[in-house]
Amino acid sequence: MTVLLKTRLAKILDQRSKKAWAMLRYERLDNAGVTLVLAIAPQGAPRLLYWGAALAPGADLAAWDALQAQSWREAQPDVPVPASIFPVHGFGWMGPAALSGCAQGGDGAVDWGACSVRRIRVGPQSEALVITLRDSRLGLRVELEWCLDARSGVLASHCALHNDGALPFALAGLAALSMPLPDWAEEILAFPGHWAREGQAQRLAAPIGQWAQINRSGRTGFSGATIALLESRAGEESGRVLALHLAWSGSHRLSVESSLEGPRFAQLEALLEPGEIDLAPGASHHSPSVYACFSDAGLNGVRARFHAFVRRAVLPPPANSPRRVHFNSWEGVYFDFDLPKLKALAEGAAALGAERFVLDDGWFSGRRNDRAGLGDWQADSERFPEGLDPLIAHVAALGMDFGLWVEPEMVNLDSALYRAHPDWCVHAPRAARPGMRNQLWLDLARAEVRDHVFGQLDALLRTHDIAYLKWDCNRTLFPAVSAGQAIVRGAYAVFDALRTRHPTLEIEACASGGARFDLEILKRASRVWVSDATDAQERARIQRWASLIAPLEVIGAHVGPSPNPITGRQLSMQFRAAVAVFGHMGIELDPEKLTPAEQETLRAMIALYKAQRGLLHAGRLHHWLSDDGVQAAMVVAEDGAQALALALRLEAGPAAQSAPLRLVGLDAGSDYTVELLAPWPEQAAKRLAQADQWRAPRVFSGAALLSAGITLPLSAPHTAWLIGLQRV
Ligand code: GLA
Repeated sequence: MTVLLKTRLAKILDQRSKKAWAMLRYERLDNAGVTLVLAIAPQGAPRLLYWGAALAPGADLAAWDALQAQSWREAQPDVPVPASIFPVHGFGWMGPAALSGCAQGGDGAVDWGACSVRRIRVGPQSEALVITLRDSRLGLRVELEWCLDARSGVLASHCALHNDGALPFALAGLAALSMPLPDWAEEILAFPGHWAREGQAQRLAAPIGQWAQINRSGRTGFSGATIALLESRAGEESGRVLALHLAWSGSHRLSVESSLEGPRFAQLEALLEPGEIDLAPGASHHSPSVYACFSDAGLNGVRARFHAFVRRAVLPPPANSPRRVHFNSWEGVYFDFDLPKLKALAEGAAALGAERFVLDDGWFSGRRNDRAGLGDWQADSERFPEGLDPLIAHVAALGMDFGLWVEPEMVNLDSALYRAHPDWCVHAPRAARPGMRNQLWLDLARAEVRDHVFGQLDALLRTHDIAYLKWDCNRTLFPAVSAGQAIVRGAYAVFDALRTRHPTLEIEACASGGARFDLEILKRASRVWVSDATDAQERARIQRWASLIAPLEVIGAHVGPSPNPITGRQLSMQFRAAVAVFGHMGIELDPEKLTPAEQETLRAMIALYKAQRGLLHAGRLHHWLSDDGVQAAMVVAEDGAQALALALRLEAGPAAQSAPLRLVGLDAGSDYTVELLAPWPEQAAKRLAQADQWRAPRVFSGAALLSAGITLPLSAPHTAWLIGLQRV
């Protein structure tokens, strides 16, 4: 380009830019100490100008914008396309696209024209921005709704695509959230996992190029649907974090794309199979919701916001009652039971303090192993000649309510259902029907299949006194079908219909352990079985990371057998139970196989859980690591008057003496009664300094507990201390 041409072009661009700046306006959302600002130009999708700690009410947003304006650079379109919250390909944008597909004939170049933004009220205190974008050439209209929750500051966003045109639009991808990230968001925290080893937190510098977590399992998947973007110095208690969660129980993609040409981008979307959505004229397609939050108090700030949001705006109503101590039959007896054995289990469970007896797999027609029975949801007539009622009555007489395991979306080839309706499973015509755990997935996209599944569960609940269902989903969705999203939505519809018909029913979501753990399922299920691993060492990690989005009452946490059936690890009852206290506690073993001492410890821990669950399930949760790697968790009551801390040593400590455990979340100016709650860890207790003084509660100042901390014998592996605090 000649110098003259360059100067003329610069002038034109400068004039254009002056005009563009003059026409900009700003919309802000403010709630719970967070401000979010969109910059809206007359044409095109809005930009995300700011998302962070609350800005002053009268902040000069144009100045904020001007200070961040990008300079001109070579090698870009004459009219650069700004990074927006709904970018599309076709007219100069080279970053990730929030919408992709094409109209009949192959035209997929989308160009947003005028953008309109209106405010709507959502609930008594929250406001949402509804952003409408139109491409008049293709006849596409997108509506994005962004709402900042009043109490938690969590952003709820989703988007809908409407085809107002004359031609069908073959949709290839629609992001539920697509957004440029602030420059400080340099690191990615994700939670890869597999069966019985969920929550393997992985923190990495965002690479140039693309980082993506892609899940094609048709379930939320063992890796979950949450990522966090952090500034590099952020930790559990401090630093800036954005946490993004896709509330969707199916295949999905979470990605972060960085280039040297523009800002880093995050995008969350439900995956579509080729040909899955051919949007007819007049039709619409909705993305799942994304729930996201900003924290400048590290990951514990994320926990506080998400827990407040989930407790108030996500969980179904029965969840608010105290979480009963569960007994679950699975790891105690697996498929090996009869009625007398179940009655004995119930008696053992009640004697330990259980309040709910959940009969897991194996109770229904023909089910002796995992090769038969799925689909036939009536009690097996050999095992239960008089049906389930005698067992339910026995359980009730022991003071417990009754729960049952079901896996409604599945069918075994060896079942009456499959013999009657072999075409009801997900399959490709004239192709093999590959199994997984010997089962096939029912096609819940079809109304008659949904009606049948609903009918069977409804009959079960109408004719028995069942308080609780553990709803499992033990395979992945294949062969790839063009109805993946409709199948997920079909399952939601069955959950919803059942909950409408049985409003007091509580449901637990399980999918081979933690493969269905997301905030869309939590609108229907008040508890999640976050892993099949009951090994407390594994659980300590899994529950720590599950608690990034879910409060403790949602996280099913059972005391399992030792040696653990999955890992073979042997752990003391005190350690296993201490880990289960920090969740929704349960028992999953045969009480008859415990020694009297183990029974006594478990009974005491269950009593402790009952005394503390009001605090554990309503307070503010902190997680942190001590200087020498002790994993600590602490729940502080909303009013700060009470707290309960858990200190766990997982691997042997580096030194003979443990480093002090500095507590968090307390008021430095208050005094606290501190009690080492019994039962104490047996070996460590022998090494406790001033053991006699610790036999009764002691008083310390908040300042001392925060800065000097408590030094406890915590260097031996698998040591757990529970510390109770009361403000004086
Ligand atoms: C899955 C669940 C387990 C148990 C079994 C029963 O694996 O995750 O908790 O219910 O199914 O078959």
